[in-house]
Amino acid sequence: MSAAAELGQGVKAVIPAAGMATRFLPATKAVPKELFPVIDKPVLQHIVEEAAAAGIGDVLLVTGRGKTSMVDHFDRRPDLEQRLTERGDKERLEAVIAPSELSEIYTCRQSEPLGLGHAVSYAETHMHGEPFAVLLADEFIDPKHELLSRMLELQQRTGGIVLALLEVPPEAVSRYGVAAIEAAPDSDDVVRVTGLVEKPPADEAPSNLILIGRYVLPPAIFGAIKETEPGRGDEIQLTDAMARLLDKGVPVHGIVFRGTRHDTGEPAGYLRTIVELAWDRDDMGQFRDWLATFMEEQKDA
Ligand code: UTP
Repeated sequence: MSAAAELGQGVKAVIPAAGMATRFLPATKAVPKELFPVIDKPVLQHIVEEAAAAGIGDVLLVTGRGKTSMVDHFDRRPDLEQRLTERGDKERLEAVIAPSELSEIYTCRQSEPLGLGHAVSYAETHMHGEPFAVLLADEFIDPKHELLSRMLELQQRTGGIVLALLEVPPEAVSRYGVAAIEAAPDSDDVVRVTGLVEKPPADEAPSNLILIGRYVLPPAIFGAIKETEPGRGDEIQLTDAMARLLDKGVPVHGIVFRGTRHDTGEPAGYLRTIVELAWDRDDMGQFRDWLATFMEEQKDA
């Protein structure tokens, strides 16, 4: 086992995936965006792989109305496996079995999508009073960056909350949770977070560092969520619950992530993600050639 994976041993994760995915309508009317393929693997598999690379082998998936098909992806399919075995298609057989071997998958249902904080609150009994990771279901990061492992290590060292932060152009901040920060000594990418605000107007944002969908949280978050009133969009916001803990003196740290975050929650980010991943795949040479030619043709058009 890699050193990165050792850090997550015994740590559990929750993946809230019960949102309504309005930015992707009408595609998400009947199909969960978590099952949209990124080339040949659904988004959700990329996320569970990211957790597994950090050593996390216990994932609680929060599902909701019309979203239960997500869970099937992590089941074995004996009929399909038998057919592929008969055909001697070893490569596809391994690909079909792989999702079921990544992690133990548990599920629960959010009765209504009342917000990310509300979705996370369903994890309380599953976490047994231990710190845990939250991975949002519509974005992922290449495990080679070891972001989640570094977050787990930082949480074990500092306690409290650990966030992943990303620098964005100032005009983009109003779509996200935003952190106010102080530099932490001895590191160029670890910061102390001094304030948190959900979707502030650009001219009131405390910085241009947004919260991306990876968190390591202490169990005290569950009490804070219970005390949190609906905020932005009339939803129970996780950012507001974390801000409560911050006000109570719980330490909050952030790692400023400088790699590529794949945001598959809306059409443009989803398309970008497919191209970015295809660019790195040996078997996608024909697609790369086509894309290069297509771009040239558009320039001349
Ligand atoms: P988003 O804010 O991206 O919402 O949620 P959404 O419903 O997925 O998409 P839009 O904004 O309507 O297009 C971030 C994550 O939190 C989950 C979502 O499934 C997503 O993974 N979530 C959000 C819940 O599980 N429950 C909620 O009530 C809200």
